[in-house]
Amino acid sequence: MPPSDFAQANVQDVVEQLTTDEAILLTAGVGFWHTYAVPRLSIPALKTSDGPNGIRGNHFFMGTPAKCLPSATGMAATFDTELMHQVGLKLLAQEAKLKAASVWLGPTCNTQRNPLGGRSFESFSEDPHLSGTIAAAYINGVQEGGIAACIKHFATNDKENDRMAYDSIVSERALREIYMMPFMIAEKHAKPWCYMTAYNRVNGTHLSENPKIIRDILRAEWGSDALVMSDWFGVYSIDHAINAGLDLEMPGTNKWRTLDLMNRSIQSRKIMKRTVKERAAKVLELVQKCAKAAPEILDGDGQEHTVDTPEEKTLMRRLAAESIVLLKNEGSVLPLKPKEQGLKKIAIVGGNAKAIVISGGGSAALKPSYFTNPHDGLVAALKALDPDVEITFSEGARATMLTPSLDYDMFTADGRRGWIGEWYKHENDESMTPVGGPIEEQYIDETRMFFSTSYPAELTKRWTLKVKGQLKPREKDTLFEFGLTSAGRAKLFVDGKLVVDNWTKQLRGDAFFGSGSVEEKGTVQLKAGVKHDILVEFCNVRAPAPNDPDEAVMDSNPGVRLGGQEVVDPDVLMAEAVQLAREADAVIAVVGLNADWETEGYDRTTLALPPRTDELVSKVAAVNKRTVVVTQSGSSITMPWADEVPAIVHAWYLGNATGEAIGDVVAGKVNPSGRMTLTFAKRLEDYGSHGHFHSENGKVRYAEDLFVGYKHFHHRKLAPQWYFGYGLSYTTFRYSALSLSKPSVSNGDFNLTAKVTIQNTGAVIGSDVVQLYITLPSTSELTHAPVMLKAFKKVKDLAPGTSETVTLTLDKYAVSYWEERIARWVVEDGEYLVRVGRSSAPEDLTLAATFAIEKGFEWSGL
Ligand code: BGC
Repeated sequence: MPPSDFAQANVQDVVEQLTTDEAILLTAGVGFWHTYAVPRLSIPALKTSDGPNGIRGNHFFMGTPAKCLPSATGMAATFDTELMHQVGLKLLAQEAKLKAASVWLGPTCNTQRNPLGGRSFESFSEDPHLSGTIAAAYINGVQEGGIAACIKHFATNDKENDRMAYDSIVSERALREIYMMPFMIAEKHAKPWCYMTAYNRVNGTHLSENPKIIRDILRAEWGSDALVMSDWFGVYSIDHAINAGLDLEMPGTNKWRTLDLMNRSIQSRKIMKRTVKERAAKVLELVQKCAKAAPEILDGDGQEHTVDTPEEKTLMRRLAAESIVLLKNEGSVLPLKPKEQGLKKIAIVGGNAKAIVISGGGSAALKPSYFTNPHDGLVAALKALDPDVEITFSEGARATMLTPSLDYDMFTADGRRGWIGEWYKHENDESMTPVGGPIEEQYIDETRMFFSTSYPAELTKRWTLKVKGQLKPREKDTLFEFGLTSAGRAKLFVDGKLVVDNWTKQLRGDAFFGSGSVEEKGTVQLKAGVKHDILVEFCNVRAPAPNDPDEAVMDSNPGVRLGGQEVVDPDVLMAEAVQLAREADAVIAVVGLNADWETEGYDRTTLALPPRTDELVSKVAAVNKRTVVVTQSGSSITMPWADEVPAIVHAWYLGNATGEAIGDVVAGKVNPSGRMTLTFAKRLEDYGSHGHFHSENGKVRYAEDLFVGYKHFHHRKLAPQWYFGYGLSYTTFRYSALSLSKPSVSNGDFNLTAKVTIQNTGAVIGSDVVQLYITLPSTSELTHAPVMLKAFKKVKDLAPGTSETVTLTLDKYAVSYWEERIARWVVEDGEYLVRVGRSSAPEDLTLAATFAIEKGFEWSGL
């Protein structure tokens, strides 16, 4: 019988046939990614995979190359629900099938209450309406494609430091209106098949054992029939989690839900057998949904594949280009047209221009199946317009936090890119000494090796890996700096000599999801043309550190990372870039962050670009008036030079199609239409959560309450650098004729449509995002945010001179607030203000109208 036959099973009958032990085993994962199978009852296992900007497949280490989509902040910047639906259906669902995964661990729908949050890049927006609406479109696409979505991290995992423990202290109103709202909108419009609980606590209780959130709100109030799983290693109890409604503990390694502990919990009546069966039944329901929706995955061979069809590549490129936001374009500097504008020489500068910057770091990162860097994308786009244009390059200022990986610099003795790993057992589980020869040799094509899932099964508890290769020869004698980071302990030898010792003692750092050391460095003088021998020796036992003498065995997250780069004098690098800028007719500075600065596992400490990057932009702009800055970051950054340059393009992280998309926009093949999904402040201090973003003695106080993102800037009348919703085009638009239908209130619902006419008043075809913001009546005793996005619509490909009338629909979500005293949603009678425009910036909200609700009402549910 093929495994997908479970599609026909009567789940309730199967649940009755489960032994208690089988039911227990179904409530936790197996290994890192799978659910438990019961062959006796023909119950197949499901495979899950991250998420959220692609499908990585089973392995962090030597992963199967995959499509990397833009960061969520970038995808939401399209403000295009139809496109996101296509991306879910045509890209992600197909990719999940290629990776043999039935469950996609995405999308991430947390809230950037402060852009320092390490995972800000992973969530769509600071605005709950945009976040929920884009999430719903994405989920609908993925689930129509037969793949289960697992929306995460439910809820308030809005920062990284101390993430397993901190307690989000948040008012009931902000919890409902801001932090749970994206999930609520997704539940209403897309019904995700799974939810993943957040690591942290909210108002005193961890989310994975929170009956109020899982049982009372998600299941009872919203009526969700989704399976609820934990985040990885995010279960902290047996009885609390089981009783609160957490169906599935993930992963299955180092789990709580063992037969022993669960049976003892049943015996002591901490939990009931029937509750365990209820949890197991949810797992079976999910298995059945997946078996029906994509039987080919369950019946397939489980192998992971990489395929990128031309149609998929075109959609990837379109998505990436439409994510890009044009922030400034004085004197129509952009698009660059070398011939028409007489640009004979263009200088590209900046630490990100040639770097492999694809996505933020952590579980969202994956090995891209193809990639073009910004430099190469720009060169191709500009040369296509004028083959004779000369393009020069200098890095100018380095943008790396850790030394760059050497993925493309290591070679095997027989000349293949990569190196060879040898795995060694130790004398016994307790020993630190490897014995005998390697039990396995493995070709490895990466120098950041995170072994969470994939190492030989026969290894002892403590084990050693030796990785050997040769460094690509340099053209001239070079002083080279190596960096070694280790979750475990590691040594680097170059030509047999010890260069970095991260073994005898180490300093704990943030790498590898918080279990790694800091990067230790060492320099070597390399000889021109010589292939130097490199050996990294790694053991999965941490070395003692000054603040932590424990030599812990890394049996869940071991890893080692080798990086390196030539030592350069930063002043010389800067001077070289400035000289190239002086000699050029235009400059493109590609600057920003990368997956080391912005990652799961820790929060950022500053909004500033990497050291000396701001200085580079200012210096280049001072010598070349035609300086275009392209910024890459998943979240907000400061741009102190914004007034010094004529043109700024924000490119987020764009995945595989990075360079192509940047080239398309800068050279004008694509007219930009992306909009800011986050407010970019001028200073960190301007954010509403500033001063109470961090966990203080375990508590994170959400003291800004409802005033998250642009709502705070409006409330305090503070001008940010770039407003939420802001973005320019190579054409211009005029908005007119806002009209509202008569509001209809009936059966506990509300409905109103707004019509607005938009005209392309410029010279080229372009797309625009019409945004509608609501102000609630000020008749109550409550404070509301002054403006709230409640509807938006992308008007696509409007030809010069033409107009289109757009209809925006409002429902009860647009006019409700959470009334804490009665724990219900309330719609008040009174006068509501509607403002429509191109962004949330006060000067862009050019149209206004009001409507009245004569008889208010209350509601609950969805
Ligand atoms: C992340 C999740 C992810 C999981 C599996 C966790 O560290 O928080 O978002 O899905 O790992 O990789």
